[in-house]
Amino acid sequence: MTVSKGEFVCIVGPSGCGKTTLLNSIAGFQPYEGQLLFRGKQVTRPDRERGVMFQEYALFPWYTVEENVALGPALSGMGRRERAKLARDYIRLVGLSGFERAYPNRLSGGMKQRVSLARMLINEPAIALLDEPFAALDEQNRETLQDELLRIREQSLLTCLFITHSLSEAVYLADRVVVLLPAPAGVALDVSVELPRSARDRDDIRFGRYVQQIRQAMRGAVS
Ligand SMILES: Nc1ncnc2c1ncn2[C@@H]1O[C@H](COP(=O)(O)OP(=O)(O)O)[C@@H](O)[C@H]1O
Ligand SMILES: [Mg+2]
Repeated sequence: MTVSKGEFVCIVGPSGCGKTTLLNSIAGFQPYEGQLLFRGKQVTRPDRERGVMFQEYALFPWYTVEENVALGPALSGMGRRERAKLARDYIRLVGLSGFERAYPNRLSGGMKQRVSLARMLINEPAIALLDEPFAALDEQNRETLQDELLRIREQSLLTCLFITHSLSEAVYLADRVVVLLPAPAGVALDVSVELPRSARDRDDIRFGRYVQQIRQAMRGAVS
């Protein structure tokens, strides 16, 4: 499969079918068989042009929000002042202004995921790899963060590869939904979601049809 620049692709599939394995391979975190090309070059190691975000918050508890967000620039040698200023810009972008000096244990789940998002975005990746990033959040927080991600992505033309087990989340977010088959792996369905934003609504009949089509492909994949 190929993901084009600027595309938002959601990957769904039965538990254990290798979604995380695929994402980790694309990120360069684990070896793989076959061919995985990013901008025409074989993926062999992690690179900041491929940003990752996980379901677990994976923040450093002994760092403040600002320090967590500034991690990438710090590692690449950006000066203290410059990276603090940049971090504050990204903290504002994800709606956390005022929490720069807070430690992660003071933040709610939704706020922690905002920090994770800012920490990924500050590196200006060409593609964002997201593994069920909102799965642990309550429904209201999840929906808010979905909209924030869409807003941010619109501004930055970020390419997104987003794994979720929620079919409605996939149809809400994606330009295209790919259903994976269990090992030895394969693609059960690859469908473009051709719905205007105004129809991205669980109660819209066209929205429901996409969810149904994907659910059927999932059922086939499981059996
Ligand atoms: N295509 C594959 N090749 C090798 N191992 C796989 C493959 N798909 C799944 N696995 C193995 O199955 C287990 C579950 O995979 P995982 O990627 O965590 O699934 P998911 O995220 O879809 O629930 C892992 O231990 C992984 O090593
Ligand atoms: Mg997984």
